[in-house]
Amino acid sequence: MGKQNRTVQTCLGTGAQECGMMVSETDKEDVGCLWWGNQANTIILVVLVFLWLLKKLISATQHRWFAYVMHLCTKDEFIPLEEVKRDHFASMSSIISQDPELRKKNAIKILEIGVGTGVNFAHYPKGSHLVVVDPNPNFKSYYDSNKGKFSNILTEEFFVTTGDDMGMIDEGSVDVVVVTLVLCSVNNIAKVLREILRVLAPGGKFYFMEHIVEFDVKKHWWRRQMQDIFTHWLPVWPFIFDGCQLNRDMLPDIQKAGFSKVEAEKYYAPVPHWVFDPERPNMKGVATK
Ligand SMILES: C[S@@+](CC[C@H](N)C(=O)[O-])C[C@H]1O[C@@H](n2cnc3c(N)ncnc32)[C@H](O)[C@@H]1O
Repeated sequence: MGKQNRTVQTCLGTGAQECGMMVSETDKEDVGCLWWGNQANTIILVVLVFLWLLKKLISATQHRWFAYVMHLCTKDEFIPLEEVKRDHFASMSSIISQDPELRKKNAIKILEIGVGTGVNFAHYPKGSHLVVVDPNPNFKSYYDSNKGKFSNILTEEFFVTTGDDMGMIDEGSVDVVVVTLVLCSVNNIAKVLREILRVLAPGGKFYFMEHIVEFDVKKHWWRRQMQDIFTHWLPVWPFIFDGCQLNRDMLPDIQKAGFSKVEAEKYYAPVPHWVFDPERPNMKGVATK
């Protein structure tokens, strides 16, 4: 309105034709501005919704793709790694359950976090009751077909959730927590460790096995560089392997989490292909609540 008045006043000293033109151009400008003003919010909203949907789609595709890649990588037994695992989990068979009912049956209750396709079944004591957690629902079908091969264990629930959000599992209700190749991709390690301590029964055991940052940098400086490059500079590893970070060391987090005892060792793990060389530095151990 103000702008229109201003235009008419300017017109008084000029010819009528000219004046008419000026008014209509200004009006056009105003209508344009008004249209943009009204539509801008709608356009921004539409763009945001589109970006959100795109992010969801990429994320869902990535999760499906990752589950499939993990299935391909784990479907055939890799004997050298199985031998390391056999040794790592051997002490589980001497654990006595805190649950009187399970104790009568000489069984224990295990919670595996980030179970993926289910690659550790073969190492669990006969009669174990197993509850599992994984945020990626695309693993469920691979997990189901794997568990069918192991009658030595009794699988209970598959919870689609992260390790730092396991409210559905009661405090002090499991004898053993297992984590293999998971802490490299969780957002908040300290929070996951707090949850592990919460769900473990007194004296319960936490078995962990993780690839970590190169620990002999003098000898393997090149691998250390590769770990940084593929994690941060050219982040193909987190992209393909669902957020996996090659250059983490979770042992200090485990040591300060509040367990009464932590026994751990660093070692070089056998890998099935040279492509996985950046994942060779590993650590494994058992922490007691
Ligand atoms: C490299 S895979 C390892 C799977 C299996 N544990 C193994 O040893 O083959 C990592 C697994 O951790 C899961 N994961 C990722 N973030 C997680 C989180 N915050 N809490 C629990 N599991 C998580 C992934 O969905 C995936 O199943």
